[in-house]
Amino acid sequence: MRAFIALELPEAFEDELAALARMLHRSVGGRFMRRETYHLTLAFLGEIDEVTVRDAIAALDEAGAARDAVPLVPDGLGSFGRGRNATLWLGIAPAPALMSLAEGVRAALVAREVAYDDGKPFRPHITLARRVTMPSALPQLPFPRPDEVRALTLFKSTLAPDGAQYKPLYTVALG
Ligand code: 2AM
Repeated sequence: MRAFIALELPEAFEDELAALARMLHRSVGGRFMRRETYHLTLAFLGEIDEVTVRDAIAALDEAGAARDAVPLVPDGLGSFGRGRNATLWLGIAPAPALMSLAEGVRAALVAREVAYDDGKPFRPHITLARRVTMPSALPQLPFPRPDEVRALTLFKSTLAPDGAQYKPLYTVALG
């Protein structure tokens, strides 16, 4: 199955993020993500087998043990990609606790020889829309209020024509 490790967002933050996305959608075209898909990826594993799922769960247990909740502080809108195929996201401030958790998760995966995509530097973000043509300037809109993350989760991703579905398989509580 296709899998990734991500932080789940608190409901109030998701509400405010969905409101921001609705306002953005008025002036930005693209395929906006459904609210229930919002998450902050720490490591993308890709296709893994059952044995690797167990290793990934052990890595989550190790990396998430004795951690405090992680600050979730909006840090501006940004995009990856160009032309009509950009990805629009809300950046999240690289707080030491967030970066340390991402490093801990990745180190625990390496220790178990679980491969993940480490081709690009970790840039914490929550994807809001895909296939976006970025305007020259984005409107000034209110960001969600800062909050904390308390759920570190292994997700199964199922690709579908109307957008991927993400199912939580295993969660470690933080804080
Ligand atoms: P994105 O939102 O920046 O595209 C589920 O697909 C999650 O894994 C998304 O958060 C996505 O990041 C990320 N993801 C998908 N493919 C990836 C890849 N090849 N490398 C890194 N992250 C990837």
